[in-house]
Amino acid sequence: MNYIGSKFKLSSWINEVVKEVVGDDLSQKVFCDIFAGTGIVGRTFKKEVKQVIANDLEHYSYVLNKNYIENHEKIEDKEKYIEELNDLSLIDTGFIYQNYCMGSGSNRQYFSDTNGKKIDTIRIKIKEWYDNKEIGDDLYYFLLASLIESADKVANTASVYGAFLKHIKRSAAKELILEPAYFIENDNIHQVFNMDSNDLIKQISGDILYLDPPYNQRQYSSNYHILNTITKYDSFIPKGKTGLREYNRSNYCRNGEVKNSFEELIKNADFKYIFLSYNNEGLMSKDDVETIMKRYGKYSLKTKEYQRFKADKTENRNHKAHSTYEYLHILEK
Ligand SMILES: C[S@@+](CC[C@H](N)C(=O)[O-])C[C@H]1O[C@@H](n2cnc3c(N)ncnc32)[C@H](O)[C@@H]1O
Repeated sequence: MNYIGSKFKLSSWINEVVKEVVGDDLSQKVFCDIFAGTGIVGRTFKKEVKQVIANDLEHYSYVLNKNYIENHEKIEDKEKYIEELNDLSLIDTGFIYQNYCMGSGSNRQYFSDTNGKKIDTIRIKIKEWYDNKEIGDDLYYFLLASLIESADKVANTASVYGAFLKHIKRSAAKELILEPAYFIENDNIHQVFNMDSNDLIKQISGDILYLDPPYNQRQYSSNYHILNTITKYDSFIPKGKTGLREYNRSNYCRNGEVKNSFEELIKNADFKYIFLSYNNEGLMSKDDVETIMKRYGKYSLKTKEYQRFKADKTENRNHKAHSTYEYLHILEK
């Protein structure tokens, strides 16, 4: 999934640095990814540590992590369910089609009419199976995560869900095919939460805490509101042109709040090693972070030059590359 601030391309570097600091054998360590997003960092460590704790404020992220992180035992016949979901006859009375597709008269176009109907049809069937206890938590989250990933591929947006495109773009015109969101199978038990990081930190402890908070004012909750609507599948009155729902406002996206929240998090963390990903374009400067972290133990820093792409406003093409510096701030508490 193309996610703001995704560490997909950096996860092996993060893994290397963590091992340089903590040691190569992580098999007895508890690793916490407290701003987990797509879960890619936790997934990188899942095979090597005793336990991953993953958390995010956003519900779609909770769903992705319940699947990619918490699911760890083989689920029999999961492809059979995917096949069945792909073959259902489409309904046109669901929430997504009614509120986010042109054909229903909503004046919004986040998905083609067929794909909006297909998302509703699949989502309703998953709920029906879950409510009837035909499927358990593991299959429920596997199927929901598969739906989020597959729907995101055919979204008619430039990149995030802050706005939709006037015309259906090529990738959005393709029919949504539900693809399985495979997770890593292993023997260990992992835990996933859907909380504010600063509340959760008071309830957990472990060895390695990985922090990847938002670094600017763009709130994830409004930029990915449609994904929350698909995973929650509740009823509300969508607001304005973009059909926004009530959304979370993170303190990490607020200039006046971020330093206090960050310091509180570090202070309350019962973890020996803390790693913070942040870049040189963030609300907190490199020096701000260093000053705060140094108050709580031994501090060091790793830097990586990294190519980022700025999406053109109207189309996914014409990406412009520019260099950013990605920091990994390290604290031994
Ligand atoms: C930079 S992204 C993390 C990206 C992730 N490492 C990945 O590779 O996909 C920041 C994440 O922090 C979450 N977030 C923002 N404020 C939060 C808070 N107060 N508590 C927990 N999660 C929060 C956002 O929803 C978002 O998913």
